[in-house]
Amino acid sequence: MLQIRDASVTFPASDGSAVHALDHVSLDIAPDSIVVAVGASGCGKSTLLNAIAGFLPLTEGSIMLDGEEIDRPGGDRGVVFQKDTLLPWASVVDNVALGLKFAGVAKTARRERARELLDLVGLADFADKPPYELSGGMRQRVGLARALATDPKILLMDEPFGALDSLTRETMQQLLASIWARTGKQILFITHSIEEALTLGTTVVVMSPRPGRIVARFEAGFVREFAETGDIGPILSDPNFIQLREEIRALIHRPAGKGTLQ
Ligand SMILES: Nc1ncnc2c1ncn2[C@@H]1O[C@H](COP(=O)(O)OP(=O)(O)OP(=O)(O)O)[C@@H](O)[C@H]1O
Ligand SMILES: [Mg+2]
Repeated sequence: MLQIRDASVTFPASDGSAVHALDHVSLDIAPDSIVVAVGASGCGKSTLLNAIAGFLPLTEGSIMLDGEEIDRPGGDRGVVFQKDTLLPWASVVDNVALGLKFAGVAKTARRERARELLDLVGLADFADKPPYELSGGMRQRVGLARALATDPKILLMDEPFGALDSLTRETMQQLLASIWARTGKQILFITHSIEEALTLGTTVVVMSPRPGRIVARFEAGFVREFAETGDIGPILSDPNFIQLREEIRALIHRPAGKGTLQ
């Protein structure tokens, strides 16, 4: 269980002023859930994810994972970014095994584990290739396999499919839903896309622009159906889906300063 309590982040700006990026955010991410944070550009989504990853300190508040305060990066959290961060000189399998190498796992064992994960993401035949021979979607699959390699308690995904074309994006959403259904990993997923949020989230939280706050929270069950059928079509035309989509759209496009619903 991940527990975020009253988390605030203020950055010093270059002109001496302060940017209040995150304002008293409280959120729980339970095992077996996918929490999706959606909101306009600059509302603090990456700041929240980076704080959970341990890449930046909170100004106020706390983040606990299974009762332990997070204050640095660790193998118990797997991170996937929008832009892949694969090492160009290492093979795909060694890229996936990178976190295991840092954890001190022996070469044969870490490559074996990396191959299992490449199989899980449908890239078993590409294990020995260099990353530059892969398409953008394939590279994100490698990133996902790498994030899963250390068997993290939680997966943190910052707009991982944002740069992909819509067909590849849909395939990646299917892959993530099926991996979630199989592994029960807790996931925090960040996106600009309301449809993506509702397709993947068991919970969708809507964030307001600066300072970033959670202004609404919705429970959604579409991802279970999606993981089972792999077919997004009926979900997108489900009246409940459309109603939630429009509610969230109205919240995101609401003029600033119109109160919060938290
Ligand atoms: N290191 C930093 N120093 C100063 N300001 C920062 C820093 N990182 C982020 N910010 C500011 O904090 C606010 C939130 O940024 P953040 O990257 O979290 O937004 P975001 O919701 O992820 O946006 P996007 O959807 O465009 O990725 C922005 O106003 C940004 O300019
Ligand atoms: Mg961001």
